[in-house]
Amino acid sequence: MKPGRVLAGLFLLLAVYCGTDPFKHSAISDFPDFVSHEIDMPSLSSVPKERDTQNLLQKSEIKFRNQVQGPESVAFDPQGRGPYTGVADGRVLFWNGQAWVDFAHTSPHRSEICDPKPSPMSYLPNEHICGRPLGLRFDKKTGDLYIADAYFGLLKVGPEGGLATSLTTEAEGEPLRFTNDLDIDEEGNVYFTDSSTKYQRRNFLQLVFSADDSGRVLKYNSTTKETTVLERNHQFPNGLSLSKDGSFFVFCEGAKGSLRKYWLKGEKAGTSEVFAVLPGFPDNVRTNDNGEFWVAVHCRRSLYTYFCALFPKLRKVILKLPISAKIQFLIHIGGWPHAVVVKYSPEGKLLQILEDSTGKVVKAISEVEEKDGKLWMGSVLMPFIAVYNIA
Ligand SMILES: *[C@@H]1O[C@H](CO)[C@@H](O)[C@H](O)[C@H]1NC(C)=O
Repeated sequence: MKPGRVLAGLFLLLAVYCGTDPFKHSAISDFPDFVSHEIDMPSLSSVPKERDTQNLLQKSEIKFRNQVQGPESVAFDPQGRGPYTGVADGRVLFWNGQAWVDFAHTSPHRSEICDPKPSPMSYLPNEHICGRPLGLRFDKKTGDLYIADAYFGLLKVGPEGGLATSLTTEAEGEPLRFTNDLDIDEEGNVYFTDSSTKYQRRNFLQLVFSADDSGRVLKYNSTTKETTVLERNHQFPNGLSLSKDGSFFVFCEGAKGSLRKYWLKGEKAGTSEVFAVLPGFPDNVRTNDNGEFWVAVHCRRSLYTYFCALFPKLRKVILKLPISAKIQFLIHIGGWPHAVVVKYSPEGKLLQILEDSTGKVVKAISEVEEKDGKLWMGSVLMPFIAVYNIA
């Protein structure tokens, strides 16, 4: 046989294999309705070129290793105590200075199935029962803690903790499906994100692969108790943070790798625009005391993600190969987990970039909370909190 024919035959076999997926080995086998959406990627020339060649994040201190699993959000209460963090088994924990103690939980149905497990990922199958608190914010006046739980929507718990009270689980008739992050204004109105109305958090890998565009940005009005949709059709909207003066908020566009600015006051109120193009794909964003924004970038961009974004059909073909979701995700993030955090001015100018490009010490950062000259960094995938001294 001629080599050309052998090759053609092999390609045909591969095509049939991928088309039928007989052994259910692909990353999207369990998702018959999977659709890969095109992503309107920012042009390569608009992507910031800055790098932290010194890998300064490698100087971070790793704290609480294996005492906290998947601590996505890190918050301090109005007295400056903490941190508080939401972990993989559904609890919100409080570091009282000596030990981690239970502070709050979001699910009324917790049972022994939520008990400790070996890794953050091993909780995924029961998250919808145990709860998964992601975004955390304290109301500085009342001391109430507001929680965005991936499965239980928007909740609030008093300074004494315990079972959180639900504020909302739907918006304009459509249930929240993947509540992700929030911020609160002075009157207790909540701005928050629902990352997808199709994929739940335990299928976040498929949400990343799909770039599903059903994500929403919402507002909970504390006076009327109503939830309204501010923006829809976003691809994996994630972190959200109000500006220091409250005139706008920014939110992360996970699939595009950008920050979007939504105006709350002034003549542009109710409209949004691009605030910054990020060096990679973001998770959360937090405002510091100077009104600057710290963005946790989950991973850097690559040519691979660029082409996958522009050619969704090609992406779907790759996803149908007999390669597990975990490996597909590693390819997506550029081979190995690493860390990138970026600071932007209130005007959207890149001010600082800190990295651990090899993931030697810090990796897969979800959030950066600045407090007293230190950056507290949580990670939804890791069993620790990293602390970096910027002073
Ligand atoms: C909440 O609703 C009240 C009553 O309709 C309105 O006056 C107020 O402006 C709303 N707040 C926000 C933040 O939209």
